[in-house]
Amino acid sequence: VPEHFRQMVEAHELLRKFYHHLLMNTDEGQHALEYLTNRGFSKESIEKFQIGYALPNWEFASSLLQKRGFTPVQMEKAGLIIKRERDETYFDRFRNRIMFPIFDHQGNTIAFSGRALGDDEPKYLNSPETPIFNKSKILYHFNQARSAIRKQHHVVLFEGFADVIAADRAGIENGVATMGTSLTAEHISVLKKNAQTITICYDSDNAGIEAANRAAAMLDEAGCIVKVANMPNGLDPDDYIQQYGEEKFRTDVIGSSLTHMAFKMLYYRRRKNLQNEGDRLQYIEEVLEEISRLDKAVEKDFYLRQLANEFSLSLEALKQQVSQTTKSTP
Ligand code: GTP
Ligand code: MN
Ligand code: MN
Ligand code: MN
Ligand code: MN
Repeated sequence: VPEHFRQMVEAHELLRKFYHHLLMNTDEGQHALEYLTNRGFSKESIEKFQIGYALPNWEFASSLLQKRGFTPVQMEKAGLIIKRERDETYFDRFRNRIMFPIFDHQGNTIAFSGRALGDDEPKYLNSPETPIFNKSKILYHFNQARSAIRKQHHVVLFEGFADVIAADRAGIENGVATMGTSLTAEHISVLKKNAQTITICYDSDNAGIEAANRAAAMLDEAGCIVKVANMPNGLDPDDYIQQYGEEKFRTDVIGSSLTHMAFKMLYYRRRKNLQNEGDRLQYIEEVLEEISRLDKAVEKDFYLRQLANEFSLSLEALKQQVSQTTKSTP
């Protein structure tokens, strides 16, 4: 490991400890701690995830780091401080934010995500890409979740940090999240090495459902067993746990996840009115197209029967159409 990488990590470790201390033990951090408590973060979660608070000061980190002998040019490259154009002095990137440290897959602190306390924009401010932080590789909480993932051969993929933390509190310890970016081939390779089954548990708003559909297709393509959690009415996992409790989250959301095919069927039903003949025909076409892509004959048969039953269609006609579709796709 090059020396300057090691120093960048050291600076992150130092700031992580300070931010955490400011949150837990100071008057200046009191309102931030109250914000977290009001959102249902437990003391244990705050400790386990090493959550902290960055003061509103413009030069807390920049002066602390300089005092400890870190060179500003390097700290800027690490994404912690920013240079002022006019006089070449530096100021802190993260101010007046709840600080979520980002750990790499070995447990080193390599970045931060800072959440605004109120409605400030952006809601989450992340470290930029740096020599030690590659967003397309890092999965939030992977280091701590690894052993649970391996034991269960199962990983749950969330959209946000808050969801990973709430789920962990609810006993789902095998959860990870991407860094606000879409799932990459590198993420998938890490997941695949450690788990057989992947449950996608994204927000159930439009953006989340679209992202879940894309992630599911990529994971399926990579040969994973894909499941998709089904959450009601626009909630995210953190909201759901707040509203319905930990037990219902474990059983009714994670424990009742849909198969990939069942998810796709729900997905195609969205914004359709199946009482309407045109919508109904379009839906049947879309599902038949999906069925034709299944490779197991038993699965094909299962979903064809389901479709035939639901719409009072002849199984023979459906089978015939599927075999035509299968032939026409290269
Ligand atoms: P809370 O409002 O704190 O519950 O956040 P959330 O986890 O529900 O966030 P949301 O569903 O809005 O977004 C999911 C993830 O997208 C977050 O965890 C972040 O990684 C990322 N994200 C959200 N807002 C922003 C933003 O303003 N900027 C950046 N860079 N990332 C964001
Ligand atoms: Mn502590
Ligand atoms: Mn969202
Ligand atoms: Mn969300
Ligand atoms: Mn949320």
